[in-house]
Amino acid sequence: MTRHLLRDDDISPAEQAEILDLAARLKHDRWAEQPLAGPQTVAVIFDKSSTRTRVSFAVGIADLGGSPLIISTANSQLGGKETPSDTARVLERLVSAIVWRTYGQAGLEEMAAGTSVPVVNALSDDFHPCQLLADLLTIREHKGRLAGLTVTFLGDGASNMAQSYVLAGATAGMHVRVASPEEFVPAASVVADGDRIAEATGGSVSLFTDAAEAVAGADVVVTDTWVSMGKEDEKAHRVATFGAYGVDRELMSLAASDAVFMHCLPADRGYEVSADVIDGPQSIIWDEAENRLHAQKALLVWLLERKDA
Ligand code: CP
Ligand code: NVA
Repeated sequence: MTRHLLRDDDISPAEQAEILDLAARLKHDRWAEQPLAGPQTVAVIFDKSSTRTRVSFAVGIADLGGSPLIISTANSQLGGKETPSDTARVLERLVSAIVWRTYGQAGLEEMAAGTSVPVVNALSDDFHPCQLLADLLTIREHKGRLAGLTVTFLGDGASNMAQSYVLAGATAGMHVRVASPEEFVPAASVVADGDRIAEATGGSVSLFTDAAEAVAGADVVVTDTWVSMGKEDEKAHRVATFGAYGVDRELMSLAASDAVFMHCLPADRGYEVSADVIDGPQSIIWDEAENRLHAQKALLVWLLERKDA
């Protein structure tokens, strides 16, 4: 049966580990897999801006022997004249997989329901599962394991990154803490799904309003922009509201002495993180950015192996 990655809990703990193991192998041996040789085409569609996702998918698809077709929605019929399901029916005749960065999760679900090729969420308002595969690969490289580690996400708890940490971290058996103002907590349904997954994996999900309490003893400290794409009109309110959740050296000093700092980028230095932390010795952001390539290649290989004939 064709599989999709629309949210982080579309894959089981064993499947997540399998994809991360494959990513590590492909990082070591970059051209080991060529499932797209021909070349077959993968459509990579953007409703929002991107640097890392665009480049890492384009390079990764080429590494796998395929041809990336980068589409800006502004120059296509999708989002204007044509529905996701009609687009899906057309694309499945022409490409081997669809990667889509969009706003609502419902569009991704409609796209996946309407097609026989794998659909990958390249960031929606609700989740950023490709980033989480890269983050988990990076944490595993630096810490040697995932299960049992404590990861604290600070800032916009209702964001795609926070919600993906809840699901993907729980899937990996991590203790996920989210520190945010009460106005910006993860959706209750996402926390409930994270709790359910964590019960099986030995992880946990906890919400905090106090940043210091949430960071105490953490192995991994993560933040993201306070103004996600699509929220630009709320910038003044967000900057005023998230002030207590900025990561600086004082806050980092409360984490474990060997804690690492992560940020999916792009970053606003001086807002969600100080320059001395993001550019300092505990920061592993460049490994994290590179690992988008290896993680997404592994994901594509894994999904293409499961595609309907
Ligand atoms: N982290 C991330 O998804 O970056 P881009 O917006 O540049 O793709
Ligand atoms: N939360 C951010 C992530 C950017 C990669 C956004 O959605 O803009």
